[in-house]
Amino acid sequence: MSLKYTTFVKLGFNKNLSKLDLSSLLEKIEVGKVSYVEWKDHIFLDIDKPIFNKFTQKLPHTGSIVKVGKISLEKTYTPDTNMVDLFAKHIFQCIQNLKIDMNKQIKFSLNIQTNSKDTTAKIGSQLRSAIKKLAHDYQFKVKMLSSKRITMELSPYEYHKNNMNKRGIELNCFVIKSKIYFGFTLWVTNPFIDIEDDEKRPIRLFTHGLSFKMTRTLINIAKIPKNGWLLDPFAGTGTILQCGLRQSVNVAGIDNDPKCVRASKENLKDFCKNASIIKKKELKWNIYKYDSRQLNQIIKTEIDAVITEPYLGPFLKQLPDLEEGKETMKRLEKLYTKVLINCKKLLKKEGKVVIIFPSYNYSKDIILTPNISKIEKLSGLTSMKQSKYFNVFLPFDIGRKHNVISRKLVVFINSF
Ligand SMILES: C[S@@+](CC[C@H](N)C(=O)[O-])C[C@H]1O[C@@H](n2cnc3c(N)ncnc32)[C@H](O)[C@@H]1O
Repeated sequence: MSLKYTTFVKLGFNKNLSKLDLSSLLEKIEVGKVSYVEWKDHIFLDIDKPIFNKFTQKLPHTGSIVKVGKISLEKTYTPDTNMVDLFAKHIFQCIQNLKIDMNKQIKFSLNIQTNSKDTTAKIGSQLRSAIKKLAHDYQFKVKMLSSKRITMELSPYEYHKNNMNKRGIELNCFVIKSKIYFGFTLWVTNPFIDIEDDEKRPIRLFTHGLSFKMTRTLINIAKIPKNGWLLDPFAGTGTILQCGLRQSVNVAGIDNDPKCVRASKENLKDFCKNASIIKKKELKWNIYKYDSRQLNQIIKTEIDAVITEPYLGPFLKQLPDLEEGKETMKRLEKLYTKVLINCKKLLKKEGKVVIIFPSYNYSKDIILTPNISKIEKLSGLTSMKQSKYFNVFLPFDIGRKHNVISRKLVVFINSF
């Protein structure tokens, strides 16, 4: 009997970010050694059965992973293989595994990924026959959600709008080289929770502020223990702090702009009033109007992680001239160094600083960004160069590709 489950993970549009997100989650649940294969925008990995539940429970803490499912069938595939009976047997197992009520209508959607349209069509039609056969044998009603678009999987919006997590089954087939892998979806990121959290916020000052999705990824990367402390020294309207509370950590924020301090206080008060998770856990939060270059004068608590999107320089629609760009980067480097020197004093050993740096990309060879080695030397923090799993090298861009002004994800560790 196999001691592992083969799991498939769909990555988001920024693969580095998704892989780092996944790597951090696997580290947190202490999976140990991981064997995996990367294929298109998926990662297939084996997870030990005893910790599989822990893995699935923690998925809502990630922000950049789109979908996770379990492979239940792996078989050699040739174009003339008829798989209807085998599919029917496995779909029946899915229904039981997911505890779907067969007395009610069952929604199905298909996600078939192969390298040929013919193969996709053939597998699609066999899956439909298998579903039909089952529905006939067990007398349940079926609603197919991907009738015309066999190859197109549901988007996370469509998946949750259709209540697929409660009332449906998404079947996934991947044909990779000569093998077919069949499995069902277990979890899909739910954009509606973020939309609700965001829309309910009384004050939103930054039109280009961090999204909750991105913020969740940053918090996951920081690996803060439950009831630990998160510090955001450039708190803005409190996006990171609010997301921290949602992930069950205590939060402290600093901003030198009174308008922002008022806004983040109001946002957090409102969030705590409405979110039952906070009421139950009695989490603490503080926000201070202060200059973060002297943050150690105001924060006295030991901190588990610093997560921040700092002041990134003047708002620009296009690159400044090179000299002006160099000046801006120098000023920002100085600001970040001072703040990080003070963060180091408060950080627990092995605590992380997850921070976003601006980057002006003049050409392939001329990229301006605050000097990480210099900041390391002056602050005593060590920058993270590589993820534990999946070979992600840091820092990397977190925005859309090819932007001349971009943002980089940088992680520092308080290693000594
Ligand atoms: C990019 S915003 C942070 C946005 C935040 N992530 C959000 O989504 O709401 C940067 C913040 O840093 C604050 N700031 C700039 N310099 C500062 C300093 N020296 N000390 C404290 N806060 C500072 C600004 O007032 C601004 O609110």
